Amino acid sequence: MRIAVYPGSFDPITNGHLDIIKRASKIYDKLIVGVLDNSSKKPMFSAEDRKKMIDEAINGIDNVTCDVFSGLLVDFAKIKGADVIVKGLRTVSDFEYELQMALLNKALNPEFETMFMMTNTKYSYISSSMVKEVAKYDGELDGLVPKNVITKLKDKNKREI
Ligand code: COA
Repeated sequence: MRIAVYPGSFDPITNGHLDIIKRASKIYDKLIVGVLDNSSKKPMFSAEDRKKMIDEAINGIDNVTCDVFSGLLVDFAKIKGADVIVKGLRTVSDFEYELQMALLNKALNPEFETMFMMTNTKYSYISSSMVKEVAKYDGELDGLVPKNVITKLKDKNKREI
């Protein structure tokens, strides 16, 4: 069985991430979305809330699950029985950083391969920070994030006003 991990901060999950999840789920027997609980970053949503939003968005895709992790990605992947790390590439500028991470992960554990998927052009300009910015100024979120995330972003903004 081929198990892959798709890691990220997902603060929050966007349609760009969801597109990679759907496409990767067709290639691997099992795909685990790994939500990084990184104490040094200040996320808008807690790791548990980010996981909840992903669980709702992946509902109906049978071979995809989601888990929160902290520490090294290669350790999380090993615990999960995965030997592939899936990452999405949006722009050329993503490449340099992604290459560095892929090489570091390979050095940490040579058993892992990083597979890059090109983001669908219609999502190439989306990032979680941009989405949060649009939400902050009450802009149109349709098409940028899954429907359940729009509701969560609006609730969050209402509570902060
Ligand atoms: N579509 C849309 N947006 C995408 C995307 C896609 N396909 N792929 C990435 N993005 C965006 C994210 O929305 C995020 O946007 P933001 O900066 O506006 O918030 C940005 O790209 C960066 O993604 P993010 O998920 O925050 O982090 P990352 O890709 O840089 O890597 C980990 C996160 C979890 C993979 C990495 O930090 C990690 O492995 N950490 C664990 C510690 C470790 O093992 N370190 C050693 C190896 S690096």
